[in-house]
Amino acid sequence: MKNYIKHDPWCIIEEGFYPEYNEITESLTSLGNGRMGQRGNFEEQFSGKTLLGNYVAGVFYPDKTRVGWWKNGYPRYFAKVLNACNWIGINVDIEGETLDLATCTVSDYSRVLNMKEGILERTFVATFASGKQVRVHAQRFCSIVDDEAGAIRYSVTPLNFDGTITLTPSLDGDISNKDSNYGEKFWDEIHKETAFGEAYLEMRTKDTPFKTELFNVCTGMKIDILVNGESVDFQSKPVKSAKYVACKIELKAKANEEITLYKYAVNLASLNHALEDLLPNAKAYIARISAKGFKQMKAEHAQAWAERWAQNDIIIEGDSDSRTDAAQQGIRFNIFQLEQTYTGEDARLNIGPKGFTGEKYGGSTYWDTEAYCLPFYLATADQKVARNLLVYRHKHLQKAIENAAMLGFNNGAALYPMVTMTGEECHNEWEITFEEIHRNGAIAYAIHDYIRHTGDESYLAEYGLDVLVGIARFWAQRVNWSADKKKYVMLGITGPNEYENNVNNNWYTNYLAAWCLRYTLSAVNSLQAADSGVQPAVLGTLSEEELTKWQHIVDNMYYPYDAERQVFLQQDGFLDKELLTVEDIKEHRPINQKWSWDRILRSCFIKQADVLQGLYFFEEEFDTETIRRNFDFYEPMTVHESSLSPCVHVIQAAKLGYNEKAYEMYLRTSRLDLDDYNNDTEDGLHITSMAGTWMSVVKGFGGMRIKDGKLAFTPFLPEQWKGYSFRIGFRGQVVRVAVRPGEVEVENLSSQALSLAINGTEITVAAQATEVVKG
Ligand code: BGC
Repeated sequence: MKNYIKHDPWCIIEEGFYPEYNEITESLTSLGNGRMGQRGNFEEQFSGKTLLGNYVAGVFYPDKTRVGWWKNGYPRYFAKVLNACNWIGINVDIEGETLDLATCTVSDYSRVLNMKEGILERTFVATFASGKQVRVHAQRFCSIVDDEAGAIRYSVTPLNFDGTITLTPSLDGDISNKDSNYGEKFWDEIHKETAFGEAYLEMRTKDTPFKTELFNVCTGMKIDILVNGESVDFQSKPVKSAKYVACKIELKAKANEEITLYKYAVNLASLNHALEDLLPNAKAYIARISAKGFKQMKAEHAQAWAERWAQNDIIIEGDSDSRTDAAQQGIRFNIFQLEQTYTGEDARLNIGPKGFTGEKYGGSTYWDTEAYCLPFYLATADQKVARNLLVYRHKHLQKAIENAAMLGFNNGAALYPMVTMTGEECHNEWEITFEEIHRNGAIAYAIHDYIRHTGDESYLAEYGLDVLVGIARFWAQRVNWSADKKKYVMLGITGPNEYENNVNNNWYTNYLAAWCLRYTLSAVNSLQAADSGVQPAVLGTLSEEELTKWQHIVDNMYYPYDAERQVFLQQDGFLDKELLTVEDIKEHRPINQKWSWDRILRSCFIKQADVLQGLYFFEEEFDTETIRRNFDFYEPMTVHESSLSPCVHVIQAAKLGYNEKAYEMYLRTSRLDLDDYNNDTEDGLHITSMAGTWMSVVKGFGGMRIKDGKLAFTPFLPEQWKGYSFRIGFRGQVVRVAVRPGEVEVENLSSQALSLAINGTEITVAAQATEVVKG
């Protein structure tokens, strides 16, 4: 755990230079706007520890699979989140000396990400070997208004000399992915040009045998220079090399004169522009934003952020101390990064586990989207955003059917991939690719979750049933009848707890599979019974025999259970393990960094919610004491080494009245990256688990559920806080809920009355009115 980021309600602050943590701070200060994003890298050259990262949404590279032992069914490529042209570069030279914070002496350093306005800012004084000193002030943002553009204001002030300062703003496409399987670079140069402080570089992803889409990205920049706030004419010398273009600008500077460079940049991708339009559109875009100017762009961007915060902020009230600031900073950081990653405007995009903050995990879509992210978008964004996330999987249905067919399934059985960009599977560890199939269930569950929240029943007929039937067919073929147990069993499974592989009868997967079949059957029944509307074609493909078989599985599924402890067993044989608790191995954590895989697999330690994931999804199907017994049994063995783990535990601990545990887990999820709990923030942020942090407050502390088509809250107030509030969008209405000691305030922000339950009592709040419920 690290503790160098200053606690502040609105900003992520690195005060003083921590070069040893630079890659962590780069992750924490990442910027994005849903179309593109980047890590908080320096503009000027830096020879110290750094992970360069610029990403363009939807642009990926299919890197040929690399495994030690090939297994039939492995995907041929792994879709990499592609590191793209570095557009922020501005090198600074002062009479033969290069500004490089790894070699200069650095003082007065701060790097601040202002989440309220979406601006990254750096200030420092650098002293060169010659004794010359400069002050630098850099500001930049990826505009959420002009979402293919970013802008930088970079100023250099010589403090103790008059001399020549050379600024070289560049576009550098000679970029590699750190996770490249064969050390290859993934871009080819298509075109470059530069003139009069403007430059363009068009790159194209290398061709591959995999027949996935190739992408062109045209990056452009335009430079303005000011001296002491006044615009000046300047000479710019073109610099060109392979995949690189820059403008070299020499300026005579006097001591204490501020030289400011504005860099306007765009990244246009062939995903959104015809190939022949890329360059002309980039030029037009650059002309438009540079005419607008930095100040105006920044003001519009900040205003747009103010509007987002007005809708989605979670406000924590407490003593104005560092502890409250830490809790507030945590939740805002999570909301801010989610908003930067996915806006829901483009149905082709999804939410990668690292968003625009790193390469690790590749792909853009895991089960994380359905199981963790969907509730956030359901409650905080327009309904079409959540719908887009669901339709995305509908578009990939055919590929999921092909994927299942490749593994030997038939009759339209669909197995969605563990990780994907195009609908094709990219994961290539057999115990996950072939065995971690619970992902299929999360996709079905998301359809249920969406309809439950929005009331949009029409989704089933339009798209939902196609997906449900594909998934149901898969489960029906994946189980087998055990003559010994006289039950259906599921063999060779990896559950959500990836610290167990190739187990039999993972309780969560068995339960989820049976639930999917049950849900699909009820969807089929209700659509068959509906006398209006278009009937989905897939109904016609279902035989009575098939439906009867599904029902037979639902009625006869095997669930491992320990009658003595009255808990569900994570899998067959779980009780053969030495049952220790996390307390017993305190100094061994994180075990994934300290133990061999063999030791992990044999241990009882659980990476993330597994049985408890099922009890979270299907809470209504179990009584509270059952949930309590299972929580008490499994939580003490859980090491939470997946970022997705703590949030599920917050929600359950809160339900069970384990308030301290809920709060402890909340801090862990909300400050996971800020405090680098799992020692891996340097790889990028855990974007998908950030939606889990939001759920921790709303579903955990706020106790939000949907019951009988209505919102219901059973809130509790952590004793560390004086209050908190959040907004929920629900079936076209918006409600603000504020929890304070002894009362819950509900403000109905919409134009129609809203009925909802607080602590089990139904109340109706008139339009634009506020009700306070005591007790
Ligand atoms: C977790 C998975 C998750 C993946 C991407 C893994 O560490 O165990 O459940 O889907 O990360 O976030």
